[in-house]
Amino acid sequence: MKVLVIGTGAREHALCRSLSLDPAVDALYCAPGNAGIAEAAELRPVDPLDGADVARLAREVEAGLVVVGPEAPLVAGVADAVRAAGIACFGPSGAAARLEGSKAFAKDVMAAAQVPTARAYVCTTPEEADEALAAFGAPYVVKDDGLAAGKGVVVTEDLEEARAHARACGRVVIEEFLDGPEVSLFAVTDGTTVLPLQPAQDFKRALDGDEGPNTGGMGAYSPLPWAEPGLVDEVLRTVLQPTVDELRRRGTPFSGLLYAGLALTSRGVRVIEFNARFGDPETQVVLARLRTPLSGLLHASAVGTLDALPALRWSEDAAVTVVIASHNYPGTPRTGDPVTGLDEVAAKDAPDAYVLHAGTKREGDAVVSAGGRVLSVTATGTDLGEARERAYAAVSRIGLDGSQYRTDIAASAASAASAAAATR
Ligand code: AMP
Ligand code: GLY
Repeated sequence: MKVLVIGTGAREHALCRSLSLDPAVDALYCAPGNAGIAEAAELRPVDPLDGADVARLAREVEAGLVVVGPEAPLVAGVADAVRAAGIACFGPSGAAARLEGSKAFAKDVMAAAQVPTARAYVCTTPEEADEALAAFGAPYVVKDDGLAAGKGVVVTEDLEEARAHARACGRVVIEEFLDGPEVSLFAVTDGTTVLPLQPAQDFKRALDGDEGPNTGGMGAYSPLPWAEPGLVDEVLRTVLQPTVDELRRRGTPFSGLLYAGLALTSRGVRVIEFNARFGDPETQVVLARLRTPLSGLLHASAVGTLDALPALRWSEDAAVTVVIASHNYPGTPRTGDPVTGLDEVAAKDAPDAYVLHAGTKREGDAVVSAGGRVLSVTATGTDLGEARERAYAAVSRIGLDGSQYRTDIAASAASAASAAAATR
């Protein structure tokens, strides 16, 4: 099968890495890609937001499957354009991707499907916002209604900060604060059958100890040794399947990757948000553990045959990824700084640890930073402790002036797991 992946981040690098190791894939293209993806796939230029341009490229490379990575092209209807050209496409229609594109739409679907989520008001004026903030009290949760790359949400004890964010965004969703640990659970679906992947946890805040501003994600790990064994089945039954069924009932079936961002609160599982695509950086750790060949899974979602697929196979290994971000991220990042140490990681750490590229590009012989999140250093091990050690050993070989990374990715899960193992 010839496969074309659309996108440019570490998630797309993880997808391309898995696809390049898949014996069923005989040609792999990525558009537009980045300096790291160029080593796994042939890069082609494209305007990822232009459905006609993506369909043109898919025909040109004779793709049997197009995989659309990021949310913006999905919301813009790129998957519709590819399917209209008669080519199998992994990713929801523009209509179904509204599940991510509008938080108000997602709330409406959840209400109809009786999916547990935070109580919320959609507010369009400062007066409505003030009323909603007063109704819920602190801590305040204010979300931009539209796409904001993980940065449209403010959670704060400070009423003035909450009011200011509501005013800056215009249309906002203001909702009840959910306590408890967060879990990301992805499912591959064809609009009817729903296959959950393994759960992961990501680290959204910029700084150690969950301090600092929200980011697109600073690291992730999987599996979650602390989670209840029945968690995935429960979320499938109460969240994923009802949501997929509701979108089908509305005449806008959702096929592709349904991402449930969950809070495990004292009152039970609640949906924090849905995304319509693989999450970044969780994809890096989930795909590191998936043993089922990826192309067959994504193709079955695209053509509606997931019910015929054998059960997914998983490695027993744990996986950890640590994001290296540019100076000043998540503010306007500094770019153009050279990245060093990549060859050293390849020589000393592979295959247990490897570097996935997010915002990078090649300048002559050098790889330079070209975005906020630059690299996602991923490692596997027999347990989280080993995966963590390997990931940070690889991180220590990388040089990028002014860069930042969290030092506590998977730290508490790894120490809780090793303490539990010691008492068994
Ligand atoms: P979202 O873009 O909706 O995933 O929100 C980004 C992050 O903000 C989430 O991962 C949570 O850490 C936090 N957040 C969002 N909604 C809530 C909520 N209702 N209660 C507490 N934290 C939240
Ligand atoms: N990991 C958060 C996201 O992909 O939105």
